[in-house]
Amino acid sequence: MSSPENSQDLEFERIISPRENSEDVTALSPKESNSLRPLKFGDYIGQGRVKESLSLFIKAAAGRDEALDHVLLAGPPGLGKTTLAGIIAQELGTQIHTVAAPNIEKKGDLAAVLTNLQPRDVLFIDEIHRLQKSIEEVLYSAMEDYKLDLIIGQGPAARTLRIDLPPFTLVGATTRTGLLSTPLRDRFGVQFRLELYPTSDLEQIVHRSASLLKIAIADEAAVEIAKRSRGTPRIANRLLKRVRDYAQVIAKVPLITLPTARAALKLLEVDDRGLDSMDRRFLRTIIEKFDGGPVGIETLSAALGEEAETLEDVYEPFLIQEGLIQRTPRGRVATRQSYEHLDIPVVNLPI
Ligand code: ADE
Repeated sequence: MSSPENSQDLEFERIISPRENSEDVTALSPKESNSLRPLKFGDYIGQGRVKESLSLFIKAAAGRDEALDHVLLAGPPGLGKTTLAGIIAQELGTQIHTVAAPNIEKKGDLAAVLTNLQPRDVLFIDEIHRLQKSIEEVLYSAMEDYKLDLIIGQGPAARTLRIDLPPFTLVGATTRTGLLSTPLRDRFGVQFRLELYPTSDLEQIVHRSASLLKIAIADEAAVEIAKRSRGTPRIANRLLKRVRDYAQVIAKVPLITLPTARAALKLLEVDDRGLDSMDRRFLRTIIEKFDGGPVGIETLSAALGEEAETLEDVYEPFLIQEGLIQRTPRGRVATRQSYEHLDIPVVNLPI
């Protein structure tokens, strides 16, 4: 067993991580590559309000022969921000140019992307909250006036060059709206927050993916996978692929039934609320070592042998959202639900 050195490595190892791993993209065989991403609104399940509004704005912009206003998509990883950006370009009938903010290291990198755009193209900047301040400033005039201001040369000989850009649509994606500067945020005329998907939507997504991957799956098995997917299509698709492997190699059955899905998920140690063994260890430590809390994050960090930052970014968001722990000023507290989930008798609950 390798021991992950930082939170990113740690997260990539977990089957229930919402972040993209290489297999989500390349899948198992080239023919599966990216095949699960819907390419038009008609195939995109869930997020009804976002879909309807975007599709209206796209029609309106097309009717006026204008570029669509800049769009900011916020929300947890794995919910389909990149997919939506692709659909926007597809529905606009234009090209999408994709870049991750951390890869834009110099102003020149951004200038190269911007000057490559055709009228009404979509520029998709992922993790836009990670853009450097100086690069963000270049984006302001590009977004507002479709102008690119470049400084050529240095010292007294330096001069500004103003280049016209074609009208384009910036689609920015962020998992952390709070980290976005106000001037940047204000330049997006259209802003949406994607929400975690209800089980019924995820069930439909599992069925759609199963059919694309030519996997036969019973309704109850699709529901079971949906329920354990933490509201996240990316996790649902990943669990589906692993359950398929189990059905094929271990159960040797052509149809994924409920018992097969349950057995596979048990092997993966993903329980009926979508928690994995590390989540359960986190809860058990608060309850058994610290009487249910409150316990400070640094103390927990020492007890679990994990960085405090890892605990905060990787484990806690889902556990808090599920009402399994609470963050209080005096530290972390396990809730009644936590005891019940782990089948531990509730004594002297602190909250
Ligand atoms: N695959 C991943 N997310 C999806 C969604 N929202 N609709 C359809 N298929 C998906």
